[in-house]
Amino acid sequence: MATVVQTSFPDLPLVRRGKVRDVYAVEGDRLLIVATDRISAFDVVLPNAIPEKGRVLTALTLFWLDLIRDVVPSHLITADVARYPAPLRKYAAQLEGRSMLVRRAAVVPFECVARGYLAGSGWKEYQKTGEVCGIPLPAGLREAEKLPQAIFTPATKAESGHDQNISEVEMAKAAGAEVTATLKRLTLAVYTRAADYAATRGIIIADTKFEFGRAGGEILLVDEVLTPDSSRFWPASEYAPGMSPPSFDKQYVRDYLETLTWNKQPPAPPLPPEVVRRTTEKYLEAYRLLTGRSL
Ligand SMILES: Nc1ncnc2c1ncn2[C@@H]1O[C@H](COP(=O)(O)OP(=O)(O)OP(=O)(O)O)[C@@H](O)[C@H]1O
Ligand SMILES: [Mg+2]
Repeated sequence: MATVVQTSFPDLPLVRRGKVRDVYAVEGDRLLIVATDRISAFDVVLPNAIPEKGRVLTALTLFWLDLIRDVVPSHLITADVARYPAPLRKYAAQLEGRSMLVRRAAVVPFECVARGYLAGSGWKEYQKTGEVCGIPLPAGLREAEKLPQAIFTPATKAESGHDQNISEVEMAKAAGAEVTATLKRLTLAVYTRAADYAATRGIIIADTKFEFGRAGGEILLVDEVLTPDSSRFWPASEYAPGMSPPSFDKQYVRDYLETLTWNKQPPAPPLPPEVVRRTTEKYLEAYRLLTGRSL
């Protein structure tokens, strides 16, 4: 499949170009979300595209939305291009396999993170304070250690720059206590369902981030779901607490970038062809292991 770095559909109103997705408005309060092959690391879009990445993100999101359909309703209308409105279908070649037609929602501006293991910013915070997002944890936990139970650790959705971890209380102050309680319950329920399934495939979902929105009086799960971009997937066979396990997520690219003397400000340095190739492999492997199918 051809690599897509950026789409431009002159007759469709562009709502936003995110780091990875191009989002267009479609009549009837709908959106066309196109996952390109762009990749970001440390919140900076890299100059290289990763072949197959947009298709993996889309196919995995669809896989999970089906698996968790009875836990929470989602924004998905269809990902079948043949069923898109006529004005979209002429772009089928660019949309096939990497796009979704969804209900447009008012996105709750918080990242709803579930953590079952101590990694990333959670591990950093724990080392300083013994807590993650205001949740006190047992003393003496090691990096990547499994938590006594999964926790809800929200973050602000920064318009630019890095997301910031906050406590549930802070989220409740800004978003309302009731919606915060609902999103916490849904976040943990979806995470638990997905993590239990992934365990049967030999994969640990260490943590993941969801976004929710409101549409027609309903709370919907929106955006991408349980992809390598929004989650940490670890092979269970290589897991040991006390070290950072090898992941199927962007850790491989991050690790490469850490070997350079880049200050993590744009522009990002180019990735060597070998790193691009192996990153594509990582994304395809994550899909294969989780779903049991090749893309
Ligand atoms: N159903 C929906 N209704 C409205 N907005 C949505 C919906 N689903 C996803 N979005 C938004 O579409 C955008 C997807 O683009 P992308 O993930 O590339 O952005 P991003 O650079 O990660 O920025 P962000 O930090 O906002 O996620 C996100 O801003 C997400 O909040
Ligand atoms: Mg995003």
